Amino acid sequence: MDQPRSSLGVLPAISARYSPRAFSPRPVTADELTLVLEAARWAPSSMNEQPWRFLVTRKGGEGHDLLLDCLNPSNRLWADKAPVLMLAMAHRILHRISAENHHARHDLGVAVGQLGVQATSMGLGMHQLGGFDPAKARQAFGIPDELDLVTVIVLGWPGAPDDLPEHLQQRERARSPRRELSELVHHGRFVP
Ligand SMILES: Cc1cc2nc3c(=O)[nH]c(=O)nc-3n(C[C@H](O)[C@H](O)[C@H](O)COP(=O)(O)O)c2cc1C
Repeated sequence: MDQPRSSLGVLPAISARYSPRAFSPRPVTADELTLVLEAARWAPSSMNEQPWRFLVTRKGGEGHDLLLDCLNPSNRLWADKAPVLMLAMAHRILHRISAENHHARHDLGVAVGQLGVQATSMGLGMHQLGGFDPAKARQAFGIPDELDLVTVIVLGWPGAPDDLPEHLQQRERARSPRRELSELVHHGRFVP
């Protein structure tokens, strides 16, 4: 696992997580893949609707090139080395009452957060991407309207920054900063 980023005692799998662009050619096994998806499965959700859906593709397997082709070129440039791509979707309809699920994307985010913690704890790296063409992916895979196409998740074993195109190498070695807790948290009253 990478160096922890927080100076406080948060869980190592939270503190060490980062979004890699360099991926090793080492494949992710079916069991490893199942484990990270299982972590997502146990996330909490509004009315226990579990609105998250994942379309999983593996390098060399069905649908992988199709999904890769939906990424923005700046993402495709490095994501094509990773062994797994997952299209993360949120089902917008509450089945029990046939109404709009206003928390579907929130709940997908919680599930993906758990997936990320599990992946990091196993030494895997994952990188979420909003930079893809949802309309193209919807058409390519025949995905119905009631599913929102939210991100593509790149999953694999972190690789060597030196293997990236030069303009990305420095970025890979750095870690992105965070706002101070004092900017994010309001105690007792809201201070604009
Ligand atoms: C919803 C979402 C969309 C993102 N889209 C992209 C993207 O298109 N390309 C990219 O390189 N990184 C993308 N990222 C990664 C973020 O840039 C990254 O999480 C952020 O800079 C914090 O860095 P860290 O994950 O290494 O801590 C995305 C992350 C999220 C959660």
